[in-house]
Amino acid sequence: KKMQTLQALEKNGIVAVLRADSVEKALRITDALIAGGIKSIELTFTVPNADVAIKKLTELYQDRDDVLVGAGTVLDAQTAQTAQMAGAKFIVAPTFDPETAAFCNLYQIPYIPGCMTVNEMKAAMQAGAEVIKLFPSNIVGPAFVKDVKAPLPQLEIMPSGGISLDNMGNWIKAGCKILGVGGSLLKPAETNDFAKVTETARAFVDKYQQLTE
Ligand code: 3PG
Repeated sequence: KKMQTLQALEKNGIVAVLRADSVEKALRITDALIAGGIKSIELTFTVPNADVAIKKLTELYQDRDDVLVGAGTVLDAQTAQTAQMAGAKFIVAPTFDPETAAFCNLYQIPYIPGCMTVNEMKAAMQAGAEVIKLFPSNIVGPAFVKDVKAPLPQLEIMPSGGISLDNMGNWIKAGCKILGVGGSLLKPAETNDFAKVTETARAFVDKYQQLTE
């Protein structure tokens, strides 16, 4: 089950990092993102009642095998459990927490912890992580990934933070297959322009495809 989810995350390529100020808005944004071809949603725990949103999304898209709803900003095992009980298929964090890793291993759901150093990456791998979230990735840049992948080729690095249509090609060239994208995708949602969210999502999906062909 864990492998299947990891393969789907790789296939989908882009993970939309969803921050919103209400469950209702998070649902509207997800709808717009999925209409634009995005299939992996990281619903963050900064959304008030995030678990309610995850549960609703899981129910709404239960017939879409290709859509993956996971949880983001999961700082501890208790939150991971809440997310998992709501239906989250993967757990993402800006930090690495060994107890959260142990919880995710027990239930065989991918844990993608936030790492900024090679030592944190090693600790995360030893705790069972196969993908780590490089966060905030705009601070280090794609060259960092390329260098780290020399000693750690078996580690999948998902950059997150500041990824845009313009710079995503550099991350893919550096060896990244899964990209976390928040602000660049969600900007139009600030003014409730959901059609534009769909259009932007489509642009990201198309560009990802072109770059990985
Ligand atoms: C986050 O945790 O918010 C993500 O890393 C997304 O960052 P972004 O909004 O800069 O894309």
